[in-house]
Amino acid sequence: MRIGVPAESGQALVAATPDTVAQLIKLGYDVGIESGAGDHAQFPDEQYVAAGARIVDGEDVWTSDIVTTIRPPADLHQIRRGSILISKLSPGANPQLVESLAESGVTAMAMDAIPRISRAQSMDVLSSQANVAGYRAVIEAAHAFGRLFTGQVTAAGKVPPATIYVIGAGVAGLAAIGTAGSMGAIVKATDVRAEVGEQVESMGAEFIPIPAPAQESTDGYAKEMTDAQAVAAEKLYSEQSAAADIVITTASIPGRRSPVLITRDMVGKMKPGSVIVDMAAAGGGNCEMTEPGQTIVTDNGVTIIGIEDLAARLPAQSSQLYAQNIVNYLKLLTPEKDGRTKIDFDDVIIRTVTVADAGQVLWPPPPIQVSAAPTPSAEAEAPAAAPSQPEPAPSRFKKSTLWMALAAVLAAALVLVTPLQLTGHYIVLALSVIVGFYVITNVTHALHTPLMSVTNAISGIIIVGAVLLIGSENWWVTIFSFIAIVIASINIFGGFAVTHRMLGMFRRA
Ligand code: NAI
Repeated sequence: MRIGVPAESGQALVAATPDTVAQLIKLGYDVGIESGAGDHAQFPDEQYVAAGARIVDGEDVWTSDIVTTIRPPADLHQIRRGSILISKLSPGANPQLVESLAESGVTAMAMDAIPRISRAQSMDVLSSQANVAGYRAVIEAAHAFGRLFTGQVTAAGKVPPATIYVIGAGVAGLAAIGTAGSMGAIVKATDVRAEVGEQVESMGAEFIPIPAPAQESTDGYAKEMTDAQAVAAEKLYSEQSAAADIVITTASIPGRRSPVLITRDMVGKMKPGSVIVDMAAAGGGNCEMTEPGQTIVTDNGVTIIGIEDLAARLPAQSSQLYAQNIVNYLKLLTPEKDGRTKIDFDDVIIRTVTVADAGQVLWPPPPIQVSAAPTPSAEAEAPAAAPSQPEPAPSRFKKSTLWMALAAVLAAALVLVTPLQLTGHYIVLALSVIVGFYVITNVTHALHTPLMSVTNAISGIIIVGAVLLIGSENWWVTIFSFIAIVIASINIFGGFAVTHRMLGMFRRA
């Protein structure tokens, strides 16, 4: 089958890059790129030719079996009946477009409808574009901010670090947190979903929760705030934005207008020179004063950036990620790697993405439970029961108490059967276990690598001691020394293997 990639007017991105063309050819497809399609993204025609593509004209592209684009074409008559269109279609917001696509007999697949399930992560264009946009949001903020991000002590005096407050720690928010942190700023973040707190902290930022419980999410996206949450959130956003140098807002709820979180009043309380980057500008904006597509400076000197195409400001990178998402989706559509698509509606990803086929509108798809959502507990799923006796204590408590009692009995028995001069060693051992347990369980994720080095060093000491004792005439000492050597060796070699794997992630191919 032929895949066509048009040069889209007014579009900096392109739906295939020389790298992804090579992958599409490996899948058995013949790829035609419209001349100049990759120019804005720094991919000249020659690179496509070197990768194995044909440079063609617009007519050849639009008569292909599969057309991949960033946006749907303005004129749907360009597409051949029976062909497949893979693009961003916003089917929820564009029911008219979906109907027109169905009428034109096109099989339309919306890449922006990829479900948020683990198997589909490699095809998720919204995530890959939001990731780039989150990075760019920080760069735009840094450009508008008149100071350094990182704190410094210089001969000319002390420079305080910038404080950045991120609202909404989804894909874009986390990318912004990582970028701002790596530039030396102090980063704080809030999200209605308290479960993302751990991810925020693992990136070295401070998570400031909204002090009121949220509605549970069943699809990995946020729900509308409860009234109590809205009141608590308003107070929090007001305090934090007044204290921050830069506020980056990314809050969105699918299918709704972006919630207004930063009011005119709050902007009025911000310091002159502060910057707001409203990433939700395209959906109406999270700041009351945002002008979508514009950058404005308020009377009190706050810059509000409402850029709608942040990802497109890094066209080479965004095109590469988008095009790779399409290749990954086409791999799913081409199970035999023979250049022929197999549209299997039993596959939840293919079914969700296909919004029109054989003249039928297939949007919205049947709902699916996504992996990002917390699994409902058995109690939550059980039908409401009649008033009953007081709940028995949870069985987890009972089990842990039982294990602790058993360990105490074992420890006491060991103390009784061993010679008196060894009792001191037991006390040291017991105290070490308790102290070790509390120290290790309180080490933050970011420090797990140095912790591993320390445990490796301890394992080394254990091995030296065990090797010295293994020749003992007492068989028990020999057996315990042997066990100690085996366990400590597992820790040491396991540590090396993990470190080797981690270092591999930073190695250039
Ligand atoms: P996402 O759904 O992964 O993240 C949004 C986050 O906001 C979620 O974690 C959600 O829990 C949180 N949230 C929702 N309401 C909130 C509230 N009232 N207070 C605090 N947190 C709240 O979405 P993603 O992919 O990170 O995108 C974020 C925004 O960035 C969207 O509005 C999207 O349209 C926009 N975006 C903008 C781009 C641009 O070029 N300007 C490019 C890509 C994305």
